[in-house]
Amino acid sequence: MNDILDAIFQRRAVKVFEPVEISQGVRERILNAARFAPSSFNMQPYKFYWVGSAVKRAAVAKLCLGQTPAETASALVVAVADIGSMPATAQDQLEWMRRSSFTEEKIRDYERTARIGRILFMPGPFGIFAALKRAIFCLLNLWKTIGMPPLSLHDQFKWATKGTSLACQNLMIAAEALGVNTCPMEGFDGRRLSRYLGLSHRYHEIVMVIAIGKKSHTCVEPPQWRRSLQTTVTVL
Ligand SMILES: Cc1cc2nc3c(=O)[nH]c(=O)nc-3n(C[C@H](O)[C@H](O)[C@H](O)COP(=O)(O)O)c2cc1C
Repeated sequence: MNDILDAIFQRRAVKVFEPVEISQGVRERILNAARFAPSSFNMQPYKFYWVGSAVKRAAVAKLCLGQTPAETASALVVAVADIGSMPATAQDQLEWMRRSSFTEEKIRDYERTARIGRILFMPGPFGIFAALKRAIFCLLNLWKTIGMPPLSLHDQFKWATKGTSLACQNLMIAAEALGVNTCPMEGFDGRRLSRYLGLSHRYHEIVMVIAIGKKSHTCVEPPQWRRSLQTTVTVL
């Protein structure tokens, strides 16, 4: 467990990398750590694009505004919030439950939850269903304690971004634990990068690009500053 804390406290956003090869084994471990992050309803609403080849990396680095971490990285990972993956994910999970030793009751429960989720997540043309559902939830909330599900497309992207960001953090901590450094970046041209990756603006939003590599000896990190514990935490 202390190794995990070491990786958390050692991780820095590295600005210059040395050219090194990241083995397939390390790549798979890093990406596996990402997908084991928790996500709401276990929907894992993200996709990762690992950009390792020199030509594609150079193209993506340019779309990351030519930032040094991107230009010098051994690989770039584009983390994409994907709200279009939900029906397929629910179907995959159902099939997995049927193959595993889940009771019929559990499977029916999941089918019901997935059906409700599909209805809740359907914004409808011009967001009409979302507005209607929001009005119903707001009315219900006047006398009942309820949570507000992500109804509009904007809410859904926000929802998917949370899961994607947690996966990104797992990825960076895993990389650090494996002796590889990272730099998360949101300095990129989202429109051009989406087009480059063939993403659909209806379903996909790039959350961040993570530069991965071995920290260069020339890279001198500034001291790491954080707001104090008292400023960021309220103990009740
Ligand atoms: C979502 C996100 C976006 C960031 N975007 C950039 C970026 O575009 N370029 C960059 O050099 N660093 C970027 N950073 C790195 C931060 O500047 C860095 O994490 C912060 O200054 C704290 O430093 P530390 O990570 O070394 O502790 C980003 C970090 C996060 C979490």
